[in-house]
Amino acid sequence: MTEPGPETAPAPAASRIDWVGHACRLLAGIRAEFTRTRPFDGLTIGTGIHLEPKTVALLLTLAQGGARVVATGNLSSTQAETVEYLSARGVEVVGATTTDEARHDEYLRQVMAARPELLLDNGGDLFVRYLTDPYPGLLGGTEETTSGRMRLAPLAARLGIPLLVINDSPIKQFAENRHAVGQSVLESFMRLTNQMTNGKRVAVFGYGACGEGVAANFRNAYASVAVVEVDPVARLEASLDGFAVPGRDEALRGAEIVITVTGAESVITAGDLDLLRDGVVLLNAGHFPREIAVADLAQSARVAAQHEAAEAITTFVLDDGRRVHLLAGGHMVNLAGPRPLGNSIESMDLGFSLQARCLEAIAAGTVRQGHTVVPVPRFVDEIVASAFLDVYGRTGTPWFGSGRPGTSGPGPSAAAWAGPGAGSGGGLADDERARQDLALGHVAGGDVRA
Ligand SMILES: NC(=O)c1ccc[n+]([C@@H]2O[C@H](COP(=O)([O-])OP(=O)(O)OC[C@H]3O[C@@H](n4cnc5c(N)ncnc54)[C@H](O)[C@@H]3O)[C@@H](O)[C@H]2O)c1
Repeated sequence: MTEPGPETAPAPAASRIDWVGHACRLLAGIRAEFTRTRPFDGLTIGTGIHLEPKTVALLLTLAQGGARVVATGNLSSTQAETVEYLSARGVEVVGATTTDEARHDEYLRQVMAARPELLLDNGGDLFVRYLTDPYPGLLGGTEETTSGRMRLAPLAARLGIPLLVINDSPIKQFAENRHAVGQSVLESFMRLTNQMTNGKRVAVFGYGACGEGVAANFRNAYASVAVVEVDPVARLEASLDGFAVPGRDEALRGAEIVITVTGAESVITAGDLDLLRDGVVLLNAGHFPREIAVADLAQSARVAAQHEAAEAITTFVLDDGRRVHLLAGGHMVNLAGPRPLGNSIESMDLGFSLQARCLEAIAAGTVRQGHTVVPVPRFVDEIVASAFLDVYGRTGTPWFGSGRPGTSGPGPSAAAWAGPGAGSGGGLADDERARQDLALGHVAGGDVRA
């Protein structure tokens, strides 16, 4: 991120990366603190997470803490401007945008070839490759997603090192998965299709935290939403939240928009083509692009023709004339297509602050061996939650009426950009509760939703 220069300096070209960086106010505070505390001095951190503007703030925060950062993206979501920006600031970026799994595998292996002491993973890609070619010195790391946790949990005994799952922090669950994914999937549907949602019948597959938010946001956009769930408990919850919970075939027969957000594979397959209405729009918000079995659809004997109807919209014309539209080739819709924005800046600022604090705790050796594929420690959640409430001006401030509205104006102030870390810190090093938890060896949170 460009730091403010002298007044005589020419105005830098407007960049969305700078806009995002300035708005990540928690990370700004942590960055200022890490400049003093240098928790990663002498360590290499290997990352395999989406290379888009918000991750810049995280990766530069880790670098500011003294790390050599070797980074690659995830399948399909790498943004060229982000790669350029990071490379110019000392992050060693491997690879470029690709939807080719073999090429992506090469990039991941190049990251692992740097023999990082810490890994920041998204989908389990790096830790799985570590097991195929282990090396001494790996201290541990973090995994961002549900899908990664599902992949890594069976490997926990073999891994053995501290591995904290960011997804299983209650903060990540409600701030990003529920609220932010729901908003950004709705935004992406409208950005890609330019179609209205009002009165549309929408079938949401999966009612975990992400599905809850997707269903709620489409309902808030005046759609008529049904939830399809394999888990009867989640199905009950959806029903009590006021959603229809039909069987999958019934839902597919009626739906004008079908959204998968399950973490599972082949949720929608060619076998479903007979059920789909003419003009149905299919989109996926789950991590892997296999929730909608795209190759299976494309190769079906029922598909008479296929064409690109618009940017990021593929239309399959069936042999009876029905048209099925697929968004973003089945890739995560909120990180694909024209001008993808991803989840809201504030939600990512929270999630990435959890990342930075967890990596800091592992580097410090305060998370014990054997805490493998476990949730974020409770004290980290508390530090990050308190910092958010303070930094974003939500503490002790009337939400309307008289009084100065804290530091939260229409945009981040210079003081906010400098961050609280420059002053009181509020981080692991300064937190009494954290010290007590660490002394007691407490790691997992007490009220974590997995
Ligand atoms: N798009 C994004 O920005 C974004 C952000 C965070 C997570 N994710 C991804 O979204 C996916 C869902 O995340 P979550 O946290 O809600 O997961 P979760 O595990 O909490 O919920 C998934 C739900 O899907 C249900 N399910 C599984 N298979 C199903 C099927 N075939 N049909 C219907 N329901 C089925 C499960 O019973 C479960 O309730 C994951 O892949 C996750 O990595 C995406």
